[in-house]
Amino acid sequence: MSQTAELDALEARFTADIAAAADLKALDDIRVAALGKKGEVSLKMRALGGMSPEERQVMGPALNGLRDRLGAALDARKSALEDAALNAALASERVDVSLPARREPAGSLHPVSQVMEELAAIFADMGFAVAEGPDVEDDFHNFTALNFPAGHPARDMHDTFFMTPDEGGIAKLLRTHTSPVQIRTLMGSKPPVRIIAPGRVYRCDWDQTHTPMFHQVEGLVIDRETHMGHLKGCLIDFLSAFFETDEVEARLRPHHFPFTEPSAEMDVRYERVGDAVKVGSGDKWMEILGCGMVHPNVIRACGLDPEEYQGFAFGMGVDRLAMLKYGMPDLRPFFEPDARWLAHYGFSPLLQANLATGLS
Ligand code: PHE
Repeated sequence: MSQTAELDALEARFTADIAAAADLKALDDIRVAALGKKGEVSLKMRALGGMSPEERQVMGPALNGLRDRLGAALDARKSALEDAALNAALASERVDVSLPARREPAGSLHPVSQVMEELAAIFADMGFAVAEGPDVEDDFHNFTALNFPAGHPARDMHDTFFMTPDEGGIAKLLRTHTSPVQIRTLMGSKPPVRIIAPGRVYRCDWDQTHTPMFHQVEGLVIDRETHMGHLKGCLIDFLSAFFETDEVEARLRPHHFPFTEPSAEMDVRYERVGDAVKVGSGDKWMEILGCGMVHPNVIRACGLDPEEYQGFAFGMGVDRLAMLKYGMPDLRPFFEPDARWLAHYGFSPLLQANLATGLS
């Protein structure tokens, strides 16, 4: 066989081997046998040195061509094998996230989390964004900017948890309400403002209806012509969405807050029917929120002109709303790790509260 015929035979054999290689390991063995240090092609290239110039002129280019073609064939086969491996993995590891769960998760959503989700869904539908602030607040945001006069009883050690003072003698505190988020939001933005601020709040209190940590949702609307009628309409719409009935009956009772003027509290009519709570009938009223028109001093403290901007705010007790909607008689178990209570009052974490398919 002539030398070039030998090369053709070699190429035919390796090309067939490459095409037949079943996996990456087999393919690499072929690469070593052909192009490795002691591979057949490499050995032939090394022999070029001992050839006559005429022979070399023929065999040199022939061997180079062979090496390049085999290299390209090896690369092509390699990526084909890798693609096949990836496709096989994708096919076997496929997850259809739209399928229903095979098994309900063992945990459940706490009623407070559930109600927070419901509130966010309702107010998002009315065009409110969600704002947040820190649990550890300073006196300015929690009190001063909210128009609490110096020496106001709510600043007393009795209600407020104070932190250890820093070197300058300044003590941070655990926020006693979500109203400081009003200040943080207004100071950073230009009206119109329409936000809710859900979160934890802290007061030194403990009985059947009070826990030292509880939950509020603050609401704030500031614009040029917002008035008390908007406040009332917004809250009534909220209540019928939340209780999923048009039967809700609510009353606004005059009240006092330093940061609103006029101020009111809102009560909801309810009765107990067996274990359940029915809203809209009966002769009991539950206080669920405080509200009012934002005080001009608050607007001024946030660097805005109260002659130009006004609006309303409200703050509601999330735990109270949960008790009213889902019928828990006592607040304290909300914060005790009792698995039976959670199993009874908890919600499926797979069902998201939304207005389209129902809140709960
Ligand atoms: N911050 C008040 C509270 O803790 C509630 C409230 C919020 C009242 C906003 C009026 C306006 O009770």
